[in-house]
Amino acid sequence: MTNTKIKVAVLGATGLVGQRFVRILADHPWFEIAALTASARSAGKTYGAAVSWALGGDVPRAAAEMDILPTSAKRLAETGIQVAFSALPAATAHGIEEELRDAGLAVFSNANAHRMDADVPILIPEVNDGHLELARGQAKRRGGSGFIVANSNCTASGLVLALKPFEPFGIRTVIATSYQAISGAGRRGLAAFDIAANVVPYIGNEEEKLARESRKILGRLAGEAIEPAPFEFNASCARVPVRDGHLLSLAIELERDIEPDAAREALASFRGAPQELRLPTAPEAPVLVRREEDRPQPSLDVEAGSPERAKGMAVTVGRIRRSGRFLNLFALVHNTIRGAAGTSVLNAELAVRRGLIPHEGGPGRTKETRP
Ligand SMILES: NC(=O)c1ccc[n+]([C@@H]2O[C@H](COP(=O)([O-])OP(=O)(O)OC[C@H]3O[C@@H](n4cnc5c(N)ncnc54)[C@H](OP(=O)(O)O)[C@@H]3O)[C@@H](O)[C@H]2O)c1
Repeated sequence: MTNTKIKVAVLGATGLVGQRFVRILADHPWFEIAALTASARSAGKTYGAAVSWALGGDVPRAAAEMDILPTSAKRLAETGIQVAFSALPAATAHGIEEELRDAGLAVFSNANAHRMDADVPILIPEVNDGHLELARGQAKRRGGSGFIVANSNCTASGLVLALKPFEPFGIRTVIATSYQAISGAGRRGLAAFDIAANVVPYIGNEEEKLARESRKILGRLAGEAIEPAPFEFNASCARVPVRDGHLLSLAIELERDIEPDAAREALASFRGAPQELRLPTAPEAPVLVRREEDRPQPSLDVEAGSPERAKGMAVTVGRIRRSGRFLNLFALVHNTIRGAAGTSVLNAELAVRRGLIPHEGGPGRTKETRP
């Protein structure tokens, strides 16, 4: 990699996803935080003073001392950043992400503002790294170097990682039931009164997002568009009183039957482009298989993944069993790491290695991969 790190901004840095970005990027071998933004409520304060830190430990020192900028493309242009990581609410993200792309920046977004744009990939790089080519086309068509790459809804990221290893067996139907953590609703998302000792069997638009995003991610790149994967999908999503970690119960109907042992082997041996390229935030294995009859559990498994900087990047799968024509399993995903900031950083690492983000060393000279 280069001697000079690539300057990046985190937009919406005070929120739950923004905080994950700040932590993951604090000691990143390739990227350096040069700007943090939030709403008018926080702009002008230092990050340390404005943030209501939810991750334990200390706010990384360099970030704590930075002044928060307003979320404005004009202000960000003055900071010399090349990459923007967006953790903004969708309504705010829509315009600013486009402005930053038009200004030539690489934008990696967690918001759902542009996920279904035809030329924006929803990238989970172990699953569909080839879709990054849509971003290259996006930049070329606009005559610049800027592009937007989205990552998926937090639940969809766990879902597609658990499904991808079964693609060779022909995925016909997926029935998904989710048990989703409170942090999925953001820092001020749910009143304690509504969720303490309770389950809420409704999350606005979640079931629809899960269906269309997972079909797009598992879809086929055909020219300059994605043909969505054609499997039948049926989702039910609930909010549960868990801090971090979305648990999914899946019933998967395949065209070719698979026994539980072979399913375990397909999941445990699954690897993708981030592992081949040894990207800094790639977990050694993106899917971990547990054999205990009561795992995965959010309180025990949510931070799965190694090495240290890939903690929370592995999806844990367990309770693999056959029931009639369905293969049943549970999958657990860390919603603000693998489901948000961690995958965004992994996407940016892939974009650097594939030459979409110009930098001093050039893609061919990227030697240093681990911190
Ligand atoms: N939480 C998850 O598990 C998860 C997973 C995947 C994707 N996402 C998506 O990621 C995004 C962030 O989610 P989150 O959970 O981190 O939300 P959050 O905790 O509510 O944080 C929102 C962030 O956006 C800032 N913000 C709010 N209104 C703004 C405005 N008008 N202008 C500029 N900045 C503004 C907030 O700044 P202040 O502190 O100054 O208000 C804060 O930094 C959302 O689009 C969400 O859908 C979330």
